[in-house]
Amino acid sequence: MAYRWKNTLKDSDVTEQSVFLNRRQIMAVAAGLGLAAAIGGPRAALAKEALEPNSFEDITTYNNFYEFGTGKDDPVKNAGKLTTTPWTVTIDGLVDRPGEYDFADIMAKMTIEERIYRFRCVEAWSMVVPWNGFELKDMLELAGVQSGAKYVAFETLYRPEEMVGQRFPVLEWPYVEGLRLDEAMHPLTIMASGIYGKDMPNQNGAPLRLVVPWKYGFKSIKSVVKITLMDKEPPTSWNVANAREYGFYSNVNPKVDHPRWSQASERKIGGGLFSKRIPTLMMNGYEDEVVSLYTGMDLSKNF
Ligand code: MTE
Repeated sequence: MAYRWKNTLKDSDVTEQSVFLNRRQIMAVAAGLGLAAAIGGPRAALAKEALEPNSFEDITTYNNFYEFGTGKDDPVKNAGKLTTTPWTVTIDGLVDRPGEYDFADIMAKMTIEERIYRFRCVEAWSMVVPWNGFELKDMLELAGVQSGAKYVAFETLYRPEEMVGQRFPVLEWPYVEGLRLDEAMHPLTIMASGIYGKDMPNQNGAPLRLVVPWKYGFKSIKSVVKITLMDKEPPTSWNVANAREYGFYSNVNPKVDHPRWSQASERKIGGGLFSKRIPTLMMNGYEDEVVSLYTGMDLSKNF
């Protein structure tokens, strides 16, 4: 498939950012959204700059991670305290082999690859991020998904001693998220363990975070410690906090506005204060790959 161009990442592939950009830029443009100019239509309106990876600096200093504070620069200031070794992920519920899976053991079993995905936040900004990681499906298969499973629930670490934001009731802690099983098993859905070939920075969700590129950024839950296979739709933090504004699906959709602002366009971070707004694409540009998951659903009701 077009978004996958390299199956393994070796130490020797971890390069300086400038080299990385030169080497990968063309591929990034060809992946996922690319071929914009060639096919015309709304995708043609996306300038090439809109598809270039953001700098490591942008990606690691402008974050949402409420466990470390609600400001965009709080995570980079406060997440250094987080201890990420040892780290285990409990996989339980409707699985054949429930248990605590050690992060290092998971990594040893997975094929780590690079994927450059557009990332669209509900606040109408976007980034392009070169993730390293593996398909969530492969991790779920370690535990063996049972036939009764229909949804996947995710949970972030709860450790207020290290996560200063958890001392305040801005959200119900721990942060939780959910996907339908077919969304979780989709090849675009990854567990990311790094950025730009480096281990995941704490502020981006070390050591392991979900990335679902056709959904708004808040679905991509960070620092995951628990994954539960269920037969019912699980609660999700933002839906619990404000059900009118945040639904379970949260697919990027320029036609369905957030109750307080339009979702038709976005501003790419890093372009400076006067950077042009660019049109937001259906399913964040991954429409061809994922729209069939929602056949027959009213996306304005299931937002
Ligand atoms: N995961 C946890 N545990 N806590 C959070 O506050 N914020 C979400 C998501 N995952 C969040 C989280 C939101 S709103 C966004 S936009 C993305 O993480 C931001 O990811 P980034 O900082 O790596 O860009």
